[in-house]
Amino acid sequence: MKQLTEAVKYIESIVNFKPVIGIVLGTGLGNLINEIDGAYEIAYEDIPHFPLSTVEFHSGKLIFGTLGGKKIVAMQGRMHFYEGYTMSDVVFPIRVLKLLGIEKLFLSNAAGAINLDFKKGDLMLIEDHVNLFPSHPLIGTNDERLGVRFPDMQYAYHPALNSKVAEAGAELGLNLRRGVYITAQGPMLETPAEYRMLRKLGGDAVGMSTVPEVIAANHMSLPCCAISVLTDECNPDDLKPIDIEEIIAVAGKAEQKLTKLFVKVMENLE
Ligand code: HPA
Repeated sequence: MKQLTEAVKYIESIVNFKPVIGIVLGTGLGNLINEIDGAYEIAYEDIPHFPLSTVEFHSGKLIFGTLGGKKIVAMQGRMHFYEGYTMSDVVFPIRVLKLLGIEKLFLSNAAGAINLDFKKGDLMLIEDHVNLFPSHPLIGTNDERLGVRFPDMQYAYHPALNSKVAEAGAELGLNLRRGVYITAQGPMLETPAEYRMLRKLGGDAVGMSTVPEVIAANHMSLPCCAISVLTDECNPDDLKPIDIEEIIAVAGKAEQKLTKLFVKVMENLE
């Protein structure tokens, strides 16, 4: 809590701006920041106690500004468990955003489609998750200032926010999918047998992030919702060699849809 408070104080000392909404941008989904008005950036490495960047996130930063008329803070670059961060590192930024005063959290990620009715380039609203990480951020002594010991997870993805996203998707004519996100530790992708297992366990999309952040948000009673950009089709009987460049390229294309969706959701929020 002391480290969180120091990070928050530092940020407040340099940006005189109270965001009400937080947005986490997933892999290959950073361009939304071009739509943010009056953007003010802070590099992660300048914020006290922010988990140190790995190579991938040398450009990691917080961006403050307005999107669709709402005051937001966006995270460009997130911390992944596979990079070697602890779970409390992974969610440190989310806790900072909550203490900065955000009232809602929107997350995005790139994920593989294991429901074979879904196609690459589709967007999927996450309705629920299965956590297969070997850990999560609430292990250890509970700090009651953040939340209760035994948080409820029935509505982990906030129904009212989900409705807002679904409405915005319909207004834009997007074929927004809905489904269950299941985690893989990464960074390697899955074997055919693992994709079969993940599907049997109830997943529609598989990815390496988001769930720790959603757990931390629920712990803090911070309403959240999340959208997956489906970057590859994981048919265990017909797997294509995975090309991370291609995944990022597909994310880049679908990102235009995600950007429109986020802007519309912001406009529609009260
Ligand atoms: N598996 C795990 N994570 C992913 C995938 C996948 O197939 N595609 C994009 N992120």
